[in-house]
This record gives sequence, C-alpha cells and structure tokens, in this order.
Amino acid sequence: MELALAVIGGTGVYRLAALEDVQTRSFDTPYGPPSGPVRIGRLGDARVAFLARHGEGHALPPHRVNYRANLHALHQAGVRRVLALNTVGGITDAYGPRVLACPDQLIDYTWGRDSTFWDGEGEPLHVDFGQPYSPGLRSEVLAAAAGTGLELVDGGCYGATQGPRLETNAEIARMRRDGCDLVGMTGMPEAALARELGLEYACLAIVANWAAGCGDAAEITLDEVLANVAAASAGIPGLVRSLVNA
Ligand code: HPA
Repeated sequence: MELALAVIGGTGVYRLAALEDVQTRSFDTPYGPPSGPVRIGRLGDARVAFLARHGEGHALPPHRVNYRANLHALHQAGVRRVLALNTVGGITDAYGPRVLACPDQLIDYTWGRDSTFWDGEGEPLHVDFGQPYSPGLRSEVLAAAAGTGLELVDGGCYGATQGPRLETNAEIARMRRDGCDLVGMTGMPEAALARELGLEYACLAIVANWAAGCGDAAEITLDEVLANVAAASAGIPGLVRSLVNA
C-alpha cells in the first residue's frame, strides 16, 4: 500500500502513538544520517510514516538537525506528502499559547544551514517558492480539522529563526513589523528542501508560548512550552487520521 503521508514530529511530539503495526526502517542518505528511524504504520486504512525531527530522545537542537537527510530518507521511503509539526511562539493576537495554526507564508531568518540539495553539480535548483506551503495539502489539513471539530487557524506567516536561544524582545518586534505571526526554529530549510524534492508539504504549528515581549510572562520556560504543546497536541492524531482516510 502506498504511503499516504509522513508526519515530522517537533519538540514534544516524538511518537505518533496512534500508529498500528509499526515497522521501523533506517535509511542511509548521501547527506549523512537522518535524525532517527522512520516508523511506518497504519492509521485506519492508510499507511503513514513518522520521523522525530530532533531524534526520539530530543538530542538534536534546531541548528543541528540534518534537514537534508531527513527529507531524503522520507523520499526514499516513498513519501510524497509531508505534514510538519512545528512548535512555535505566538507573535500576533490570534496565535496565543495552545493555538494550532496552518501557516501559509514564511520568512527565513536562519543562516549557515544546508538549505539546498544542489551542491554545485547539475542544474541549479531555483525552485519556485512563492507559496512555500502546498495549497492543496493545506486545504486538506484545514478540511480534516473542520471535520474533526478541531480549531485550526487558517494562515499566518511563520518566521524561522536560527536558535537555539529564544529571541530578544526587539527581534520579535522586528519580526512583527515584517509580518510574522509565529516564530519557530525548525521551519526552514525543511520546507524548501521538500519543495526541491517535489514533495507536498504543509506545516501544523503548535503555539507553545507568547514570543518574547508579547505576553505577560516575564520569562519563557521549558515547562510552560512542554505543557502547552502536550495540551494542544491532543487533537493531532485524530486530525491526521481524518486527513489520510478522507
Ligand atoms: N521562539 C522560537 N521558537 C520557539 C518559540 C519561541 O518563542 N517557542 C517554541 N519554539
């Protein structure tokens, strides 16, 4: 049976517990090892793959994730559509803690990451990236959320920062002026690499905290982040099941 979807799990989402009959596959890639094994199982009548972006023990910080190897491994596994789960901070009013959002734009503030499969040989890969997230897959994700009664904000601009430190208040103020609604550290180059491979790709952003200077909290703590991600993620397996069995 063809693989319907891959889910890439982010901070706080290291397994897709709803997967049944799981097979674990390890892949080698020309770019080195991916973050961990690809777990392929059944969700209802569909086959779904899962990969933990930071490794299953969360060993890899955002700037050390081998995004090329991860995407290449999923591609080798036969994946053609990817739903990326990304834990984020919220910048604008509609994106408070525990909100789920399906952004439609991004701005890349990362640097020094291997952001293309093109290494100087062959045709340059100037892929079109005007719409960084696949409109078709986004629509399906939104429909699946609506079908399962899950609130999901439609749209928004994801600002990808380098990390691993959180941002300063001034950096977030600048990102707000730039038009960002969300801030995270893992959205790029993953989205662009998926496009280079011709994969459909959408982001399901899980808001863990108000970004620096946006809420009342004096400090952003890991406990707060993980508690909000756990609460907001409860509906995700149902959404994925509905998405792949539509
Ligand atoms: N900034 C960047 N990345 C994040 C944040 C944040 O506030 N929260 C969760 N991931």
